[in-house]
Amino acid sequence: MKVAIIGTGYVGLTTGVTLAFLGHEVTCLDVDAAKIAQLNQGISPIYEPHLDELMKAARSRLKFSTSASDALSQAEVIFIAVGTPSLADGNPNLTYLKSAAEAVGEHIQNPYVVIVNKSTVPIGSGNWVESLVRDAFRSKNSGSKSQFVVASNPEFLREGSALQDMLYADRVVVGSDDEKAISTMRKLYQPLIEQTFTPPSFLPRPENFKMVNFLSSDLQSAELIKYAANAFLALKVSFINEISELSEKVGADISHVAKGIGLDTRIGNKFLQAGLGWGGSCFAKDTAALISTGKEYGLPMVITQAAKDVNTRQRIRMVEILANELKILKGRKIGILGLAFKPFTDDLRDAPAFDVAQKLIDRGAKVIGFDPIAMNRAKKEWAQSEIQFAETAEAVFEEADAVLLITEWPEFLDINFSKSKEKMKNPLILDGRNHLDPVAIKKAGLKMITLGRSS
Ligand code: UGA
Repeated sequence: MKVAIIGTGYVGLTTGVTLAFLGHEVTCLDVDAAKIAQLNQGISPIYEPHLDELMKAARSRLKFSTSASDALSQAEVIFIAVGTPSLADGNPNLTYLKSAAEAVGEHIQNPYVVIVNKSTVPIGSGNWVESLVRDAFRSKNSGSKSQFVVASNPEFLREGSALQDMLYADRVVVGSDDEKAISTMRKLYQPLIEQTFTPPSFLPRPENFKMVNFLSSDLQSAELIKYAANAFLALKVSFINEISELSEKVGADISHVAKGIGLDTRIGNKFLQAGLGWGGSCFAKDTAALISTGKEYGLPMVITQAAKDVNTRQRIRMVEILANELKILKGRKIGILGLAFKPFTDDLRDAPAFDVAQKLIDRGAKVIGFDPIAMNRAKKEWAQSEIQFAETAEAVFEEADAVLLITEWPEFLDINFSKSKEKMKNPLILDGRNHLDPVAIKKAGLKMITLGRSS
């Protein structure tokens, strides 16, 4: 099928590359000419494991363009995957969505087009997009006809494992009140649903993985599924973090508690990793939007709000624990291991590392950080802050009064802690992700504090 994707961010690019890999003719459209030029050279503007390789494998069916008419005029399915960042009031900024919908209305020519909202949009946006497309189409094409339908197809990809999540998804959700739109989307995803494609060697199919669930619903339900899924995951993490604070107080070990409850299949063992809490572009934005939608309807979203509050507290708690240990933060040198909001990405949006570092700087400490992948981005995006950057993980230990582990990159397990301890002013490490081996750290002569264990 002929597919266009508007927006080449994380969601748009991974969706476009995957659909081309599955056999569709895909054009990815973006207003950023530099990004499109880079993509045309086969270079991904984002760090996502295996994206470059999958782009290469799908190259013959994949185009990148800044021309809306090239991308949209012949498309049978158009995905809108533009950013919807949070505004100060918690509502998403829909400016890019509006421009994308208007461009679609101006350029579609195919007799039947499914316009798919892939961006996370407030409930009811499907109807709004439809009216924007209709107005733009009518003002450009008085008299001529194009039938189009707006559908919602929320995405559930995690950064760092986006391609794995897409090719071997738990489910594909499509919301529309139009049967033909649902069947068009089912056809588009058929190779994925039925797993008829040959898996790339670098992303093998998990053993016994047979089919992807396909769920169709009305438009609003699909829109709400996206928010509810992210809010539920966020509150699962906040729940375990609340229990982890209690664990510290009563002398329990959160890793045992998480395992003990996670073995109950009704609860499940995923998203029970206690620590510094969630960051990234999605959870904060989507929980804020859900709360704001609730407000619009006079419904306080108390559970979602509590999840947010606990998450904010974790970052404050990390600084408080450190202050309690060091007594004075002024003039202290604090090393930070991990800057990205999670491992296997260079994304720094709502990164806990920034928040914690800033709080320490505000209290007079010097902060030096290292990340295996997000360094260059951090140097650019955090140029206004006083955060300093080390060239290696070991270098953050130099003269440090404490080192905080904030992102659980696997390579941090390979640090020679005995050697690194020798470089420190004070041998203290605070593991914000329950990532390091307490026995090895103790053996190296460091004092380690973890969230969720009374050390
Ligand atoms: C999240 C969802 O998992 C995806 O399903 C969704 O598609 C995506 O948002 C989105 O809306 O675009 P993502 O933000 O990429 O994906 O990353 P996650 O793996 O969900 O992690 C989010 C945050 O929670 C990270 O900061 C991570 O460190 C933290 N986390 C996760 C924990 O603290 N503990 C856990 O047990 C799991």
